[in-house]
Amino acid sequence: MKYICTYCNIYAYDENKGDPETNLDPDTSLDEFPDSWLCPVCGMPKEYLQEVRDDIFSLKMTAYSETQHESKDLNYYRSIARKMLTGICGEYSVCDGQPDRICTGQKFGAPIGFGGAGQGKTFEANYNTLQDYKLRMCVIKAHHEPEMSVSIFGKKIALPVMGASLSGVKTSMNDVVPEDAFYRGLLKGAMASGSIGLVGNTPYSPDDLGVNIVGENKGWGIPILKPQSQERLIQLMQLAEKLNVIAVGVDLEGAGSTIWDNSKKPVYRKSENDLIELVDSTEKPVIFKGIMSKEDSVKVLDSGAGACYVSNHGGRVLDGGQGMAEVLPEIANEISGKIPILADGAVRTGFDVLKVLALGADVAMIGRPLARLSLAGGEVAVKMYYKYVKDDLRRAMILTGCNNLEDANMGIITRSQLITI
Ligand SMILES: Cc1cc2nc3c(=O)[nH]c(=O)nc-3n(C[C@H](O)[C@H](O)[C@H](O)COP(=O)(O)O)c2cc1C
Repeated sequence: MKYICTYCNIYAYDENKGDPETNLDPDTSLDEFPDSWLCPVCGMPKEYLQEVRDDIFSLKMTAYSETQHESKDLNYYRSIARKMLTGICGEYSVCDGQPDRICTGQKFGAPIGFGGAGQGKTFEANYNTLQDYKLRMCVIKAHHEPEMSVSIFGKKIALPVMGASLSGVKTSMNDVVPEDAFYRGLLKGAMASGSIGLVGNTPYSPDDLGVNIVGENKGWGIPILKPQSQERLIQLMQLAEKLNVIAVGVDLEGAGSTIWDNSKKPVYRKSENDLIELVDSTEKPVIFKGIMSKEDSVKVLDSGAGACYVSNHGGRVLDGGQGMAEVLPEIANEISGKIPILADGAVRTGFDVLKVLALGADVAMIGRPLARLSLAGGEVAVKMYYKYVKDDLRRAMILTGCNNLEDANMGIITRSQLITI
């Protein structure tokens, strides 16, 4: 049998071959490991080893051997992700949901993989509407090293970027690694970058898995729960509070999840009173995700929530909907300064982050790219992406005359004014 370590998502072990590095002879089964055995990469015990398929094992084993003696870059982990996600995601140089991508198009009841719902038009709109805004270059100003840190939920983070809530390796990601390994990569990669990771909620794992893995990460993370029954949500939120998570949230747009529908686990739309009841059930800040209108944003504010998360779930629930950048300014106009605003939807680079901040968000959230990297290389690969984004954000701030995040306002962007003749 073949295993990977679900803690670091790097170490790979083949029973037939054994492992000279940790003194395991060929044909040593997991049961025969000495109790003192520790993963040579992350130092965790054998309980974290889980069996994986042969194809995934060989990718992981190659990556483990190749990265042991030589450090690798982002493109290396991207190439592993491309192989892992064969048939559902091309790990293109631009992840934009355009019609020619293998993730897009109607799935006729099959899982949507990395694409969007229906014809994928909302995913496409996220990308197109954000790119419709252009950054205005402005370079004559005394030099100042950009100040990128931001305070959120009482924590100071190094950059105004966090990982979006993600889940569903079995249904959406070719079942390539165990769900807990996927969550750990997202959380630990964010933490190692001075940021905070979010994890989602899938019907194909215990519904408290995300909460427990954030707990295991000493509470440094945010579980986002599906809008299940109020009773179950309150139990999970109270567990999250006990595990001292930074905040907890509900993706209200999850009421339209095909994955939860297909698994026959009910999810519900929530009323204003439901929101208030959830906020009142815990001392922790509560985030409501899936807000795409100013009307809903005011209801989130009025509920006493800790943050309003502008998102259409990466276009994965409602097709033919608006892009995030289309609605963010009117929402910000209504609630900015009163409650933190998080926003996601086709945010890919540090340049995109700056646009999202200029449009009114306090923190920009990144989904698909981090999902792929957590599968491919766990914490190490996720951390590389945060660095990539941070480096570009710094450059973008220098080139648009921003000394700090307050300078990132509507004045630094403009709408596309191309004239076609
Ligand atoms: C594969 C996949 C799984 C996701 N799982 C969840 C989830 O469990 N909970 C949740 O709130 N959002 C989930 N999302 C939505 C993300 O939180 C986020 O809204 C979206 O990915 C942002 O768009 P982007 O991927 O274009 O950056 C998922 C998205 C993807 C692509």
